[in-house]
Amino acid sequence: MKLAILSRAPRAYSTQRLRTAALDRGHDVKVLNTLRFGIDLTGDEPDLLFRGKQLSTYDAVLPRIGNSITYFGTAVVRQFEQMDVYTPNTSYGIANSRDKLRATQILSRHKIPMPATTFVQDRADVIPAIESVGGAPVVIKLLEGTQGIGVILAPTIKVAEAIIETLQSTRQNVLIQSFVKESKGRDIRALVVGDRVVAAMRRVAQGDEFRSNVHRGGSVEAVELDEEFERVAVRSAQIMGLRVAGVDMLEGRKGPQVMEVNSSPGLEGIERATKLDVAGAIVDYMANQVAFPDIDVRQRLTVSTGYGVAEIVVHGGSDMVGKKLGDSGLDERDITVLTLHRGPQVIPNPRNKTVLEGEDRLLCFGKLEEMRSMIPDRKEKRVRRLMKKHLPPESS
Ligand SMILES: Nc1ncnc2c1ncn2[C@@H]1O[C@H](COP(=O)(O)OP(=O)(O)O)[C@@H](O)[C@H]1O
Ligand SMILES: [Mg+2]
Repeated sequence: MKLAILSRAPRAYSTQRLRTAALDRGHDVKVLNTLRFGIDLTGDEPDLLFRGKQLSTYDAVLPRIGNSITYFGTAVVRQFEQMDVYTPNTSYGIANSRDKLRATQILSRHKIPMPATTFVQDRADVIPAIESVGGAPVVIKLLEGTQGIGVILAPTIKVAEAIIETLQSTRQNVLIQSFVKESKGRDIRALVVGDRVVAAMRRVAQGDEFRSNVHRGGSVEAVELDEEFERVAVRSAQIMGLRVAGVDMLEGRKGPQVMEVNSSPGLEGIERATKLDVAGAIVDYMANQVAFPDIDVRQRLTVSTGYGVAEIVVHGGSDMVGKKLGDSGLDERDITVLTLHRGPQVIPNPRNKTVLEGEDRLLCFGKLEEMRSMIPDRKEKRVRRLMKKHLPPESS
């Protein structure tokens, strides 16, 4: 394949390793400075300029977009997407993962375990927000920090309030998050490539520091991940639209707690700790996927008037429960089931013989009019949610 690595740091360890891995495998590879692109919307088709000249044809692009250039960098990646060039990390995936609030909002919908988090604006809401995540000590985070900068542990509510007020007065938005104490300054970085974790390490903070980032002096060691950590890491990356990602998880009492999903994970720490060829795994995965550039499914499927995508929930009392999908009547109503979500499990392309269970969620494509009656109304949804919230936690 002809591969472009987008990077402003051609000499950095990660860039060098990726470039070498591609060359070793006989690919044609160029490292291109992200900031030297021009987005060209003057012609019939979306195009890209590089250093002022039309860019030659590439099969795949690997974006390594630094935090300081997210806007321009994601615009360049989006342009590659418009040109049907394969990228493992989509522009929306990169943009969403950059913002800790956005990422948390998206992941929470898919039941990814995370430390309790709130986001408020008004002064009057700050103390109740801290209390709602369990009170002090509490973690305060800038939305777009990296390398541990902008992550603060406030020992008391008073200090937390002062920090939040100070940051807000300089127009910085902050997340309020419960402190996962039992993780004891340690966390797990799982390197996800495609549908699997190719390498994982534990980072241990130095001394009484609670942040385990390598840039904060954290040390690293290889770990063998248990299945639950692996599953959560892969799901988180998938949900964010990232096929190459570094997923950071705390080791909570009840298992993994996802903190963030990084779209340009550094390779140096993890390759040194694990002695694994992560760069090679990334290049191999891309070579394998290059025929499948990302398609904005929602956008493409909703261009037929009257048709669209909707989620249908099979309620416990519904007459669909216990029926085979083929006998559910959906097909007759011109509704196609794309995926079936059952708890944490996802069944793609469910077969007609699949037996439906209560609380199954069906992602469907079909006539909107037909689907309307099957979508739970909002009020009902909310009542169910509130009931769940106030139920005592399941003992297991
Ligand atoms: N809620 C939390 N509880 C305990 N430790 C945390 C929590 N959030 C972050 N940390 C520690 O701080 C580090 C940095 O936090 P993170 O959200 O990953 O920000 P950054 O983008 O700066 O790396 C984590 O690697 C972890 O060690
Ligand atoms: Mg981090």
